[in-house]
Amino acid sequence: FDLTRENTLGLKSAARLATRITHVDALSALLDEADVRGMPFRILGGGSNVVLSETVEALVGLMRIEGRRLSGQTETHNLVTAGAGENWHDFVAWTVEQGIPGLENLAGIPGTVGAAPVQNIGAYGVQLSDVFHELSAFDTQTRTIATFDAEACGFAYRQSRFKAEPGRHVILSVTLALPRIWTPTTAYAGLERFSVGDDPADVMARVLSLRGSKLPDWRRLGNAGSFFHNPVVSGEEAAKLADAPHYPQPDGSVKLSAGWLIEQCGLKGERLGPVGTFDGHALVLVNHGGATSRDVARFSALVRERVKARFGVDLVQEPIEL
Ligand code: EPU
Repeated sequence: FDLTRENTLGLKSAARLATRITHVDALSALLDEADVRGMPFRILGGGSNVVLSETVEALVGLMRIEGRRLSGQTETHNLVTAGAGENWHDFVAWTVEQGIPGLENLAGIPGTVGAAPVQNIGAYGVQLSDVFHELSAFDTQTRTIATFDAEACGFAYRQSRFKAEPGRHVILSVTLALPRIWTPTTAYAGLERFSVGDDPADVMARVLSLRGSKLPDWRRLGNAGSFFHNPVVSGEEAAKLADAPHYPQPDGSVKLSAGWLIEQCGLKGERLGPVGTFDGHALVLVNHGGATSRDVARFSALVRERVKARFGVDLVQEPIEL
């Protein structure tokens, strides 16, 4: 089953076996089939945060569970629920159209609703965990459906229990809690001008234009967004890197910009074979055409080595390998 069009990096890839999942009822039989064939079972959503091998040795479930609705209201919040296979951006745009704002800073992120909690997506001052209520997931070990609240998800920066335990849970639907009294989140440079009386659709449009000005469109140039985490180092280590932009964290540690570190190593816009960094943003690895996961591995190793040699900082890859 060809996966080249199922991943935003556009890597040449095929799975031994793949099938679309439109309902939870299909899962048990698929797990049996994976067992019989001695293969792991893995889920692929929009393929926007994965590095797919040329041959994926797994039974791959292409998540296609649909549905989105206003699922409840509390005194303070609207609850909105979407199926794991819904396109994330379309869901965000739908909430704004429905007059249920709160997700507009996360507009334009490629991928599915079900993938959003896996790496706790975040952009322009908002992380999924800020608006998360609960999710429903199928546990492939116990073969039961369970509900996870934010604590059970183990969210951290670009991390969750689902990312830490690959393949264990199949996320089925996600419910978000959006404050009924909307205030725009304006901390990110370029969003300062918005205030309470503004139209959330205008904030969304501004977010989309900011994204468009910084990040390449994967439909034109294959990429998986940020390829590395922004490294978090101790205050002491950060002091040695006085020139680097510092983002102090509540616990005294300091988040650095991986994009800045890579650019300082002279690697912005550089390439090795078909894989390189985007010339407008050094944190984004791009596929100039025809790349495989091996080309990605070669170039990303080069980036990690150079950053380590120059700054003593270890970069951690963000996309999941499959
Ligand atoms: N920078 C450079 N050179 C570059 C790129 C960035 O010097 O080539 C420096 C600049 O100082 C810039 C700073 O890095 O001000 C931060 O850059 P940017 O605002 O673009 O954000 P980021 O830290 O690189 C993170 C997320 C993005 C998210 C943006 C906006 C991570 C790993 N990435 O990137 O997420 O869109 O913030 O909030 O945390 C993604 O996950 O795929 C993704 C795009």
